[in-house]
Amino acid sequence: MRLQWSHSVIRVRDLELMVAFYRDILGFQVADRGLLGPEGPEVVFMSGSSTDHHQIAFAKARGEEDASSLEHMAFRVDSIADVRTMFERVTKDDRVQGAAPITHGNAISVYFSDPEKNGIEIFCDSPFSVQQPQIRGWDPGSSDAEILAAVESGFREEPGFMPMDEYRAQKAQEFGENDA
Ligand SMILES: [Fe+2]
Repeated sequence: MRLQWSHSVIRVRDLELMVAFYRDILGFQVADRGLLGPEGPEVVFMSGSSTDHHQIAFAKARGEEDASSLEHMAFRVDSIADVRTMFERVTKDDRVQGAAPITHGNAISVYFSDPEKNGIEIFCDSPFSVQQPQIRGWDPGSSDAEILAAVESGFREEPGFMPMDEYRAQKAQEFGENDA
């Protein structure tokens, strides 16, 4: 299994200050923003590449007492089979707490924490793109085809639902990746 670095999600105190800094200095664009649940917190996803919906995201959820700004770091794997293998590995390991199979519609993931409670996400891309944030479960006992069918039927009515290839082509244009 090959783990490719993808993105970090960090907790911040001043959301707009952080968004403006990463936009102005690093040239990232806001991909999406919204509430992570009915009560929030608000999250802003930013990217400078068509390959990742977000390369960094900020959640307005950092109190003065919090020791770390890290919400989670994320690694991309090649297949649902790899995500399932990782889910099985971490659910058997007593150093891991709170392993959860989550889909954002555009990814199929397992979230868990390391022994010092740093969040980790292992995910594979889904063939679909959908406006974020989105958080639902998926069934690790299902086949790959059943999981993909459930993701498609579960998210197809959501805003911005389209084939991932189409989303990436749009973003590649926006980021000037096709320019010589
Ligand atoms: Fe993530």
